[in-house]
Amino acid sequence: MNWGVITIFPELLDQALNVGVIGQARARGLWQLELINPRQFTSDVHQSVDDRPFGGGDGMLMLAEPLAQAVEAYGPAHVIHLSPKGQTWTDVRARELATRSRVLLVASRYAGVDQRWIDEYVDEEISLGDFILSGGELAAACVIDSVLRHRPGVLGNEVSAHAESFGGRFNLLEAPQYTRPREWRGQSVPSVLAGGDHAKINDYQFLTSLKITLAMRPDLVRRALQTPGVELVEELRRVEKRRHRDAEFSAWRWSDLHSELAQLLNQN
Ligand SMILES: C[S@@+](CC[C@H](N)C(=O)[O-])C[C@H]1O[C@@H](n2cnc3c(N)ncnc32)[C@H](O)[C@@H]1O
Repeated sequence: MNWGVITIFPELLDQALNVGVIGQARARGLWQLELINPRQFTSDVHQSVDDRPFGGGDGMLMLAEPLAQAVEAYGPAHVIHLSPKGQTWTDVRARELATRSRVLLVASRYAGVDQRWIDEYVDEEISLGDFILSGGELAAACVIDSVLRHRPGVLGNEVSAHAESFGGRFNLLEAPQYTRPREWRGQSVPSVLAGGDHAKINDYQFLTSLKITLAMRPDLVRRALQTPGVELVEELRRVEKRRHRDAEFSAWRWSDLHSELAQLLNQN
């Protein structure tokens, strides 16, 4: 997969994407990064890429022309402008973007960009969330990292992206996880997880994942309930019927859980 990023701070991107699994995948040639600085498409001595906005207002705006030439220099691609005005970024969008071969991200700075360039060159705008960053570079690094995790071979172990939060059969949050020691400062690892019965472990992780998602992100549970073919309630009934005797399971209040799901399903 080939990524282009238009930025006046190319070193920021390069460093952020050179470490960990993403950096290793880059070294193995699974993806490439082309950094394009719009200053190279300026003709004045200061290499200016910004100017004052018409109509007044705070700050400077990025000029359309250097950005236009930077997009043209990269060549045909899906062009994304990182912007707080865009659609909020999600893992669903990351998976969709992972099917493309060339994506060009534009990380702008200052108070934004001349709207005419956006209208002419941008296919979509993406926001990381309802907050303002000083520039699009960190947002671009987040987009690239989260997309590449869905490309074959990048994680090495390809199941891991599916098993993470927003993945799996139900796209819920990941269940709480534990490592050694089994006892830590008076707290124990749930005994089911240390017991080695994988079917039971799966059931326990499904329930704890559902519980944490209901508490933190009920919108994700609602989406699973409303998605045809996603059998969340059926899975819950299957786990319930297995009647595991362990303390961790007997503490479940099945009827409360079912009524919480029924309420969510009926919400608009
Ligand atoms: C200071 S911001 C400009 C904000 C703009 N004046 C507004 O109110 O919408 C400078 C740049 O940072 C990037 N940026 C800021 N917040 C962002 C966010 N939440 N998601 C993605 N990019 C963001 C964009 O590239 C933006 O053009």
